Amino acid sequence: METAAWTSMYHAMITNEERRPFSWQTVRRIGAFVPAQRGSLTAFLVVSIAGAFVAVATPVLAGWVVDAIIEGDSQRRVVGLALLIALIALAEGALGLLGWWLSSRIGERLILDLRTTVFDHVQSMPIAFFTRTRTGALVSRLNNDVIGAQRAFSDVLSRVVTNVVMLVLTLVVMLGISWQLTLAALTLLPVFLVPARFIGRRLAGLQRESAQLDADMATRMTERFSAPGAMLAKLFSRPAEESREFAVRASRVRDIGVKSSLVQASFVIALTTVSALALALVYGLGGSLALTGTLQAGSVVSMALLLTRLYAPLTELASARVEIMSALVSFERVFEVLDLAPLITDSPDATTLPDGPLSVEFRDVRFAYPSAEAVSLASLEDVAVLDERAGIEILHDLDFRIEAGQLVALVGSSGAGKSTIAALVPRLYDVDAGTVLLGGLDVRGLRADAIQAAVGMVTQDGHLFHESVRANLRLAAPEADDEELWEALRRAHVADVIAALPDGLDTVVGERGYRFSGGERQRLTIARLLLARPRIVVLDEATAHLDSESESAVQAALGEALSGRTALVIAHRLSTVREADQILVVEDGRIVERGTHEELLLLGGRYEVLHRTQFSTTSPTADADTTEQLHQGSGV
Ligand SMILES: Nc1ncnc2c1ncn2[C@@H]1O[C@H](COP(=O)(O)OP(=O)(O)OP(=O)(O)O)[C@@H](O)[C@H]1O
Ligand SMILES: [Mg+2]
Repeated sequence: METAAWTSMYHAMITNEERRPFSWQTVRRIGAFVPAQRGSLTAFLVVSIAGAFVAVATPVLAGWVVDAIIEGDSQRRVVGLALLIALIALAEGALGLLGWWLSSRIGERLILDLRTTVFDHVQSMPIAFFTRTRTGALVSRLNNDVIGAQRAFSDVLSRVVTNVVMLVLTLVVMLGISWQLTLAALTLLPVFLVPARFIGRRLAGLQRESAQLDADMATRMTERFSAPGAMLAKLFSRPAEESREFAVRASRVRDIGVKSSLVQASFVIALTTVSALALALVYGLGGSLALTGTLQAGSVVSMALLLTRLYAPLTELASARVEIMSALVSFERVFEVLDLAPLITDSPDATTLPDGPLSVEFRDVRFAYPSAEAVSLASLEDVAVLDERAGIEILHDLDFRIEAGQLVALVGSSGAGKSTIAALVPRLYDVDAGTVLLGGLDVRGLRADAIQAAVGMVTQDGHLFHESVRANLRLAAPEADDEELWEALRRAHVADVIAALPDGLDTVVGERGYRFSGGERQRLTIARLLLARPRIVVLDEATAHLDSESESAVQAALGEALSGRTALVIAHRLSTVREADQILVVEDGRIVERGTHEELLLLGGRYEVLHRTQFSTTSPTADADTTEQLHQGSGV
């Protein structure tokens, strides 16, 4: 019966896009967080029961006082009873405070447990997950929903537990005093429960809509207020329209706020009215019974006082149910994220890599980006249905080998699959067929930390965290001292730039490194790479054209990064390809030509065309001196 009621409540409040059956499994899973707090929970239960006993005692004592007055008992007895009531009031306050402290402790601890669990889980998700989800939606899951879930838990504790104990105890005492009066007072109960259900549903619907709007606004803000997002908005958006759209959502939240507090207020007022009516009934009926001598006057007073203590928990329980239901949805939203199994995990018998230089090998590799279904959630992507485009094979039968210490360059048209190949080396994705091997070992059999230590990657966009230069560099070598940092910066040809800044290493790089130029940012990421001392370097050269001065600085930095290491470089510069031990020409996910610069030029195929159109634009002077620097790189 209760299950059915909760289920229907849940269906009423979920919106179309999330129509999944409510499951008791969620409740069971919440239970999994209980054992850690068994001590606090037991203490809370004891305090609640003690509190309920104390609360019921006062009305009974008040009745005794009235009886003592009517029967003309001693003054000492009356004053004694009054003192007892005062004592009980103090005890009630103390127990109440203790109860609040315990329940908030339990609730906050739950937030902590949930947050850290979700954070750790999201961190373990593959890169494919992050390329799909919207940051704002994810952050909202971590904040709003975790707090919502905690509220459910605390509510069950502080409201439901306390009030159920109170309700049962009050009823027992009332029945003990006068069962006729108790039954009469309860006849009004349906009048009170029917609108409670209706109003509860309405309220839950409003709350859900408001949560959705909040998440929506958070998503918009995180996207628009990041440096690149703000830049885009400045260049392309119409601010007036943007702010109007934002205002529409914000005003809807306001309307919902007003409406739900109105609904809530009318609910509480209705309940107060009903309990006042019940009170009149007790006075009328109880008074008559007292006049006929069936009931003592004091009992009528006790019953009246107990009645208010009966309806109060009922009111609480009715409204708590609504909040618990909406908060259960929060739990589900959190569990939904926790249920996403990371696609890439260490196998139980994962090994580390052998010491010394490492080769890189692709054997008959086929690869398609994972489907949305496999890696993400519609609600995090902010779409109604996950797109099914995935599964298109990007790389077909890729086969090549980079001997330890060799430099292999990848060239090809935009969209050919070069960055995709690069992403497979540090196992950012798993292949669908074939094998990627580092030092002759399948990457799927290697530990993630071993791969991370061995492979250094500089991506096309050169991302930096919004922290100091020092913190960004230390990401690669946490124990490096300033001396080592400056050495890396010098070798990456960016030391002068940092030294010229008033705050030097303490300069905050700005959101996504936006306070540095493209070339500076790239050299900083190269400095980071140098600090990491990887044995394999994967480098996605920036396509952006730099002036010849920073071009040669970047080129010199690359020379430092590559020398003495196994390197896979996606090359946009003639100097890099010229130096490569082997050049792979990639088109449409296949290697169409391979060989050295001279060999491929002689072949007169695709490479020759690329050479003429892409590489010849690089300034010859920059090429000449950087080629030299490529040779001279000192290594580590
Ligand atoms: N995360 C992704 N999910 C699905 N498809 C992707 C993803 N990233 C890239 N692709 C697709 O894979 C193909 C190869 O992309 P890739 O980034 O490897 O090209 P590229 O050779 O590096 O191009 P460029 O020289 O412009 O950087 C493209 O068709 C692209 O649309
Ligand atoms: Mg690319």
